[in-house]
Amino acid sequence: MVMNILLLGSGGREHALAWKLKQSKWCDNLFVAPGNAGTGEFGRNVAMDINDFEAIAQCCTSNQIGMVVVGPEEPLVNGIFDFLKVCPQLENLIVVGPSAAAAQLEGSKAFSKHFMQRHGIPTAGYAKFTEATYEAGKEYISKQPLPVVLKADGLAAGKGVVIANTHEEALLAFESMILDKQFGAASAKVVIEEFLQGIELSLFVLTDGRDYKIIGHAKDYKRIGEGDTGLNTGGMGCVSPVPFADAAFLKKVEEQVVIPTINGLKSEGLVYHGFVFIGLMNNNGQPLVIEYNCRMGDPETEVVMPRLKNDLVELLVAMHNGKLKEEEIEYDDRSVATIMAVSGGYPGAYKKGMVISGLDKKLPPDVLLFQAGTAQKDNQVVTNGGRVLTVSAYGEDLLEAVAKSKTALQQIHFEGMYYRKDIGFEFE
Ligand code: AMP
Ligand code: GLY
Repeated sequence: MVMNILLLGSGGREHALAWKLKQSKWCDNLFVAPGNAGTGEFGRNVAMDINDFEAIAQCCTSNQIGMVVVGPEEPLVNGIFDFLKVCPQLENLIVVGPSAAAAQLEGSKAFSKHFMQRHGIPTAGYAKFTEATYEAGKEYISKQPLPVVLKADGLAAGKGVVIANTHEEALLAFESMILDKQFGAASAKVVIEEFLQGIELSLFVLTDGRDYKIIGHAKDYKRIGEGDTGLNTGGMGCVSPVPFADAAFLKKVEEQVVIPTINGLKSEGLVYHGFVFIGLMNNNGQPLVIEYNCRMGDPETEVVMPRLKNDLVELLVAMHNGKLKEEEIEYDDRSVATIMAVSGGYPGAYKKGMVISGLDKKLPPDVLLFQAGTAQKDNQVVTNGGRVLTVSAYGEDLLEAVAKSKTALQQIHFEGMYYRKDIGFEFE
């Protein structure tokens, strides 16, 4: 059934999802709220607050929307799935995402750690503390081997994790979170976790809470500096597939992590109709879960969607109808790499409103440019965020893909533009 689709969000992830959704034979009109200067290429941008559920429901009614795809976590944790599901005028609407209860897998680190413990899913050892148990928390921290990891329980825009190399640093971070309420209610509870050694992998699963399909994986480069140095960012680039994620490793991940996760959702009655992003550590061949996210990753989506050959809307409809089992996931054999261009100063303070040039240059057919923090201003595209745009490229191997992405980025310019030139460096 051909339908109108509403996609929520405004990042590179949403530009890539818009690109993929629009290719579907089941997608009629695509609406993106609020979108960015790039998403308008595939759909109509709608100025709307993604946490204003009344406005979203109204938009669904007036545009005869058949499916809502939620990009970022915040509306999911705030309960958009549950809200839209009970709107009487939206009876047949397909909402892609977890219920608020299931979105706690991302919305509360304590919830997700406890969930993993209940279901025997391998993860780092942990303890959780609040203001009431502050003194016990200090004592616990002092006894932990270093480095030790502290995590604000709730959503903290990617800033709630501290990896402390000394006990003093850990105690200070603990004090800021609990006593100074650094992240408000999000740090009223703090998880103290064992530090995991290894290489990270992002795995993506589509589930209806009963059946599942793995739809891709990627390695994200999180640090701002080359050689994985400097501050953490939202992600500076990605590659897929990842050489160490071979069949043997992925089999372990499926058996030890994916299956128990889906069975856990089912046995606890947690309603989940969407993407699960499992952040893993490959610790000498043993997968350990770092975290769950209840959405696709950014920039992981910008490599996972180009490699996924299936019609995405068809997959999402099958998920909604409880027919995921009948679907066969097909991947492009080629590698895909993406490199993110960011504003000078990011992840610290940066300027917005810089004119972006070179967007009109013709790209080779195996290169895709996805915009992130961009806006349209006086007929020009200007920067509007820290992560500005990302270039994804296909290659026979990942080094060729990275090289093509870098070549395309050389045609783009804005004041202060920076990107890592070493994405994929450890695989050279
Ligand atoms: P999270 O918000 O849980 O994804 O954490 C952000 C990043 O911190 C992760 O992607 C890892 O790079 C790092 N991290 C989180 N927990 C751990 C851990 N237990 N051991 C090592 N690194 C971690
Ligand atoms: N790239 C990591 C994330 O989307 O959370």
